[in-house]
Amino acid sequence: MAPISQQAIDAIMNASDIVDIVGEYVKLQPAGKNFKGLCPFHSEKTPSFFVSPEKHIFHCFGCGEKGNAAAFLSKYKNISWPEAMKELADRSGIPLELDRKYGPDESFQRYYEINATASDFYQLALTNSREGKPALDYLLGRGLDLHTIQQFELGYSPDSADQLYRNLKGKYQELDMLQIGLIKKNAEGNYYDLFRNRVMFPIKNEYGKVVAFSGRLYQKAENEPKYVNSPFTEIFTKGDTLYNLDRAQPAIKTAKRVILYEGFMDVIASVNAGVKEAVASMGTALTPTQAALIKRFADKVCVCYDGDEPGFEAISKAIPLLEEAKLDVSVLLLPDDLDPDEFVRKYSAEQYRDFVANNQVDKYEFKYQRLIRHADLRRAAEVERVKLELFRWLIDSKSGTLVHIYVDKLANDLHIDVETLMGDFRAYGFTQNLKVTQAAERGRAGQAAVLDRNYTAEVYLMNYYFQNVEYRRRIEAELTPYFVQDEFLKMVLIEAQDILEVRPSADLVGEIARRMTGDRKREFEKVVIGKLDYSEKGLSECITTIKSRGFDDRIKELETARALLDKSSPEYLAKSEEIKNLRKGRENLWKKTKS
Ligand code: CTP
Ligand code: MN
Repeated sequence: MAPISQQAIDAIMNASDIVDIVGEYVKLQPAGKNFKGLCPFHSEKTPSFFVSPEKHIFHCFGCGEKGNAAAFLSKYKNISWPEAMKELADRSGIPLELDRKYGPDESFQRYYEINATASDFYQLALTNSREGKPALDYLLGRGLDLHTIQQFELGYSPDSADQLYRNLKGKYQELDMLQIGLIKKNAEGNYYDLFRNRVMFPIKNEYGKVVAFSGRLYQKAENEPKYVNSPFTEIFTKGDTLYNLDRAQPAIKTAKRVILYEGFMDVIASVNAGVKEAVASMGTALTPTQAALIKRFADKVCVCYDGDEPGFEAISKAIPLLEEAKLDVSVLLLPDDLDPDEFVRKYSAEQYRDFVANNQVDKYEFKYQRLIRHADLRRAAEVERVKLELFRWLIDSKSGTLVHIYVDKLANDLHIDVETLMGDFRAYGFTQNLKVTQAAERGRAGQAAVLDRNYTAEVYLMNYYFQNVEYRRRIEAELTPYFVQDEFLKMVLIEAQDILEVRPSADLVGEIARRMTGDRKREFEKVVIGKLDYSEKGLSECITTIKSRGFDDRIKELETARALLDKSSPEYLAKSEEIKNLRKGRENLWKKTKS
């Protein structure tokens, strides 16, 4: 049975103005009978996202997303379809009761009640019992005050076998207590408490219901885990939950972002310092569900995990997940490997707020910082390691802009000349491309690398071509007139030949640059390497790469043709012979270049 009657659906859809609804999340402008804007479901620079008030639908011609107002809300806010209908109904003042399983989990009311009672019990044990005094002292010793302890409803689980059980017994069913993991049953059939002698953190869902607990050791104990958590239950999956999301919501709305921490104490310290849009993924690797949960409340997220190596690793993994959820991601790296809790204690709440406001970095800068943070840049071997790792990353990024920014930065951090480092980078890039290709020549996985290598060779050849007439002569003698395949480079080459026809001694780079504008000019600037270590040998390598590509293409053609033939036919054998010769030819080409 559908959760919502067709009648109700019709009434709700009729009352909903799609332009109004979408317009709340996407900037729309009129486009004929329709409206258009930048698609929120894929990234684009020119609008291909259309809303039709006539047909009551949206449609993105870029990514293909389409549907009605409910589909939009459901997709945009990452909520279920019934929840989206409920939201539309509320907007138009149409009464709609959702089946319990579609609402905020009201069917588990009795579980929430048990947890709430348990939480009260733990809180009382912390603040109002002699037994709880050491645990309370521990928290006070960590800089929390009573107000904070009450705010976060922190508690204490007594060091007894079944105090909680005895307290809940009579009020609730044993089965329910077992179901949510508060008690267990031993071999003799007696019930006992799961949490014993620990500081208790109640974990709430985004609606403020206690769904689980985490208990922390507060004194030294051999062979005991620092945290004990409620098991997975019908109302709790750790990876679906973000600590403090219930209380953080007003702050998230105001700040328009979420700050994502690792642990309970980080969140508490952050909130205490006045940065209240704080939630925690609770140690485990961030999950896609948690990322989607964040997206329901904000478009921006700042990751603030521990500044140690496991923390860095966790950040690296979290970034793509958060981006996948269409979140704008930044990273906050605290100095000296401090966690937020330690930072606030070492400096001050005010300094923490300033730090959060001024020190968020993007994913590139995070990567760079991670690279150099623990490197001793006074040692040559360390410098080389950092340098090569940076180069490898920059080559993978395929971005000229990043190359400029980070070669500059590293040069600055190493106190060396930018051009020297740039020279190293180019040398590395070139040999790397050749190496990758040679290794990949056989496998299909290598095809992209081959393309890359060919493109790199074309770029280098163009630069030799610009350099002087001797290099030009040699290129023209050894290769076909249009030795480049890349469309843009082809255009540059034609431009160059044009210029040379009129003025053989022209400054090619300057002249071509003058003839270009806008994007083309920028692309051209990327292609011009400038200070390259020009040499006959370098040129030979480029020429051979291009020639070898000719062999590759011919071999591929023959292989395709041969595949259609009968293996014992004379034509098959002839083609095989030809392929063999071409392979040999290609090999000799490289042998000659290397000698
Ligand atoms: N965590 C957990 N279960 C564990 C270990 C960790 O749920 N067995 C979660 C907790 O939410 C914890 C977070 O992971 O807060 C980070 O773990 P850790 O860095 O070890 O703890 P801290 O938050 O730093 O706690 P404290 O400052 O009290 O040592
Ligand atoms: Mn920690």
